[in-house]
Amino acid sequence: MADIVRSIGCIGCGNMGGAIMAGLAERTSYTLYGHNRTRERLRPLVAKGVKAMADAASLVRGSDVIIMGLKPYLVEDALRRILPQLTRDKLVISIAAGVTLGALRDAVEGICPVVRVMPNTPALVGAGMFGLCLEDPNLSDAQKTLVHELFGAIGTTLELAEKSFTAFSALVGAGPAYVFQFMNAVVQAGVTLGFPRAEALRMVIGLFEGSVRMAAASEHSLTELRDQVCSPAGVTIEAINHMDRTALQGHIIDAILAADKKGRELEG
Ligand SMILES: NC(=O)c1ccc[n+]([C@@H]2O[C@H](COP(=O)([O-])OP(=O)(O)OC[C@H]3O[C@@H](n4cnc5c(N)ncnc54)[C@H](OP(=O)(O)O)[C@@H]3O)[C@@H](O)[C@H]2O)c1
Repeated sequence: MADIVRSIGCIGCGNMGGAIMAGLAERTSYTLYGHNRTRERLRPLVAKGVKAMADAASLVRGSDVIIMGLKPYLVEDALRRILPQLTRDKLVISIAAGVTLGALRDAVEGICPVVRVMPNTPALVGAGMFGLCLEDPNLSDAQKTLVHELFGAIGTTLELAEKSFTAFSALVGAGPAYVFQFMNAVVQAGVTLGFPRAEALRMVIGLFEGSVRMAAASEHSLTELRDQVCSPAGVTIEAINHMDRTALQGHIIDAILAADKKGRELEG
């Protein structure tokens, strides 16, 4: 590994790879390279200072760290194609769901260490949640620190055993979709109550931001925080009772378990 990592390249700058690179562009001083099948898609990243590379080989030559942002079924083949440019001082990071560390290590033929990261899209605004699998025995302590620093610059990192990755994907990788779905329902209620949609959205964003910050700062459990809002014979308990009668929490749990089941099926 280069003593000082200066350059990060990403092959496949779509929704997730693009979010990571945009976050890094705004919050770090690494030299950033991006390569994408449809070059047009790099335009917003180039505007943030990412250098567009015409091919994967030149991206790999210039990058100390290579992030694989491709769909899972493309990752191993793409790694085999860049083998001639890989050297032992580089680091490959895959964000692909379901592509195991073993498969990644086989694909790079042990030339350089590999890391699995399970990200989520709030990386775009520096608030991603990243599961890190740092189980490749070829990984040095300095490289482990680097991976924490790199993703720590655009969110929160959590080291996980690889066996927890599928569950983490269903819970956190997919998680922003669940949150947006819930936010959308609250916005829709706001519109139904007579607020213009844009105003309802502003209210809901403030509501979620405040509640999340409170949950993070408080020593109380989520149940206690909920109960503090529910005055006896008040308004809030009516809504909570309705949610409980219709088993909202159970439905949410079942939805996430269904995502986990699908993830396991896809992994075979
Ligand atoms: N989206 C999420 O929230 C999320 C969360 C956790 C993990 N992930 C993981 O992130 C990875 C990417 O998912 P995504 O949702 O970001 O998909 P995506 O938006 O389709 O991004 C994939 C990108 O790869 C590009 N690409 C395809 N073949 C290529 C090639 N040969 N060379 C260079 N670029 C190529 C595509 O180009 P085009 O623009 O031409 O299609 C596309 O921009 C997946 O492995 C997924 O498991 C995603």
